[in-house]
Amino acid sequence: VPVKIFHDSDDVSRAVAAEMAQLIQEKEKAGQPCVLGLATGSTPMHVYGELVRLHKEQGLSFKHVVSFNLDEYFPMQPSALQSYRRFMQEHLFDHVDIQPENVHIPDGTIPLHQVARHCEEYEAAIDALGGIDLQLLGLGRTGHIGFNEKGSSRSSVTRLITLDKVTRVDAASDFFGEEHVPRRAITMGVSTILKAKRVVLMAFGENKTSIVTQTVEGPVTAQVAASFLQEHPAAQLFLDYAAASGLT
Ligand code: F6R
Repeated sequence: VPVKIFHDSDDVSRAVAAEMAQLIQEKEKAGQPCVLGLATGSTPMHVYGELVRLHKEQGLSFKHVVSFNLDEYFPMQPSALQSYRRFMQEHLFDHVDIQPENVHIPDGTIPLHQVARHCEEYEAAIDALGGIDLQLLGLGRTGHIGFNEKGSSRSSVTRLITLDKVTRVDAASDFFGEEHVPRRAITMGVSTILKAKRVVLMAFGENKTSIVTQTVEGPVTAQVAASFLQEHPAAQLFLDYAAASGLT
């Protein structure tokens, strides 16, 4: 996987936002929708901040952007502090001219017996648009991309999963205690992610050094879902120095 190393996370965020802005503008010129796969969490936060700045200061338009988020906790109310829907509204969607009907996020309020159908429809909606043009990813300490925890196969699709213990520990502060972190989530699968035409994975800080090294230099294995990116023809890793410090 090609790796780009930057001084710090702000530098990465500016570079990634610039690539996304360029793609959005190219697609607009071509008269095509730009289909973005989006992530939540601390890693992409400043990318969204930078995209909002480009919208406000340079007129970057999201009119033709269609978005699909990777995941959502289950169950989860959209208005809850920890919901990924709320995260996206607050960090990006409320500040740009994206059309609400073009925003897709897995629905954490769906009754359990309808989740499988909801997931199938999510996959179908992505396919109907010709697939994701650019997928943004963060990286969990378990090696998850989206919430594809250990054991997620290469062919996995959008589905309900059980969160890893480590992932729930990492989310504990957001939920004011590990016991309040949902045990499950709806996530795009590994195959959903690998179908994207381009993939940009970002990772920052020394907490991610070990899993970055496994992702790039370790075997391709369902034990580290991110390692499947080694087989993607157009995946790139954007790292700060700390996250890259274990690479040979
Ligand atoms: C979020 C997601 C997760 C996060 C990962 C890293 O939508 O899919 O894979 O990207 O857990 O989280 P942060 O960025 O908070 O370290």
